[in-house]
Amino acid sequence: MKSVGKLVLLFLFVWIRGSLQAQNLSITITKRYLNLPVSQAQSRKTMQFTIQGKPERSFKIRLATDKPDYWVFCDMTAHQGKTLTISYDGNSEGLAKIYQDDKIAGQDSLYTEKNRPQYHFSSRRGWINDPNGMIFYEGEYHLFYQHNPYERDWENMSWGHAVSRDMIHWEELPTALSPDSLGTMFSGSTVIDYANTAGFNRGNTPAMIAIFTVDNPDKQIQCMAYSLDKGRTWTKYAKNPLIDSKAKWNSKDTRDPRVFWYKPGNHWVMVLNERDGHSIYTSKNLKEWTYQSHVTGFWECPDLFELPVDGDKRKTKWVMYGASATYMIGAFDGKTFTPESGKHYYTTGSIYAAQTFANMPDSDPRRIQIGWGRISQPGMPFNNQMLLPTELKLRTTKNGPRLVSVPVKETESLFSLVQQAGDLNAEEANERLKSFKELDRFRLTTTLKLSHATSAGVSLFGQRILDYDLNANRVNGVFYSPEDMTSMEVTADIYVDRTSIEVFIDGGAYSYSLERKPVSTAKEGIQFWGNRIDVKRFNLYTAKSIWK
Ligand code: FRU
Repeated sequence: MKSVGKLVLLFLFVWIRGSLQAQNLSITITKRYLNLPVSQAQSRKTMQFTIQGKPERSFKIRLATDKPDYWVFCDMTAHQGKTLTISYDGNSEGLAKIYQDDKIAGQDSLYTEKNRPQYHFSSRRGWINDPNGMIFYEGEYHLFYQHNPYERDWENMSWGHAVSRDMIHWEELPTALSPDSLGTMFSGSTVIDYANTAGFNRGNTPAMIAIFTVDNPDKQIQCMAYSLDKGRTWTKYAKNPLIDSKAKWNSKDTRDPRVFWYKPGNHWVMVLNERDGHSIYTSKNLKEWTYQSHVTGFWECPDLFELPVDGDKRKTKWVMYGASATYMIGAFDGKTFTPESGKHYYTTGSIYAAQTFANMPDSDPRRIQIGWGRISQPGMPFNNQMLLPTELKLRTTKNGPRLVSVPVKETESLFSLVQQAGDLNAEEANERLKSFKELDRFRLTTTLKLSHATSAGVSLFGQRILDYDLNANRVNGVFYSPEDMTSMEVTADIYVDRTSIEVFIDGGAYSYSLERKPVSTAKEGIQFWGNRIDVKRFNLYTAKSIWK
């Protein structure tokens, strides 16, 4: 009897499993978007799209079986009128919930969601990390980025894409590079091949070429793709990979190519992180690369650029840069970087894997950087954000030239001055700030003078967003000594958004970014603190939203 019962149970189990799995969904694409339900409680399983019988994409998703936590979408513009078959190797109950529409699910609340950054870029849905392929071309700033379109956490690495005319207002475009049979799309850079060195140009249209890492369980290889329509659609190079250096380094860590044209040598340069530092490769055609040299002491996401010291174009230095925003200053001859000083830092906190725009016009040779802000957006169908674009400069200090960074001048248009005051003590300043209610997002610049306090600063609902300790020489825990080390003053330019805070100290000599803590109504909004400090000046600004 017992074993019969067991058999029946086993049969039932197999039958239920079978009926839950191996079901496909077939639809004719008639609308722009396909909306897919996600539940973080489900485990990741593989979903496959087949279009007119041909495999189109494969990705991991936590398909919701009952109430979804949120929805993600696929832009199906390129497949109108075709038959799509979806298969899923997990619990396929959720397949029935997938639907097409000309709107993404949640379109009506897009950009007004509770924890949506209001003046920082974030993607409509899914996860973002490193900025990729940042380039200025024909009036547009292109921001590609590491992206998981199918979940709010890291997976399915693709290149998301957004464009802007001012680095402030962004329009998100369809995914630029998606995983393929070689692997997933890791970080990299783009160039415009004006001289047609790679042979992809068409007529007078130079190719935008992306050089990036493809990651698979075995190794990381360097690949290329090109676009002839300003980054909207991409063709992967048929002979990828360009570089496979796993054996040379006996390491899987070979990634994040940063490519630029080196005019004096008439050749391309690639800086590539390999195992324990940044390598230099050179090429005449972007396809064949020759190894030249290696600087140890760096990890991931290289950048290498030349900057004038104090704006003097006859006096330049090269900056070799790593993912953590630490750098060396040195000389570069097109093949070898020779460090002269470092490592230094100019910014800390949530920033990681920052890049700078390539192809800036001669009329505007600014070196503009955007960093990934490791800022979580709790409870949202999207996660993380980009930090404000900043201009990098080399300024002479008593220790030699050092990087400074300040938000680009274009950001000024976001802020309107609503209050200005000076020569107040903390209590008086706090009294004046009391009536300000637009604490959701704002900007505050201030200069504080200390006389009896060893530390002073500003808090926001109890969170210390500026904490200057002149005894330990720390700003929010990180060593900082002002250029005039006897100075008792600190100037801070503080940018507060819904979930993040960026602070630029003393004209960008040091900066940091951090997560904003949830608003605590038990505590006062903006508060200056510190024993008998002089609030020499404060300017308070409201901030516009970049999303219309
Ligand atoms: C840095 C990084 C890169 C890599 C990418 C993958 O954050 O680890 O080295 O290319 O992220 O998403």
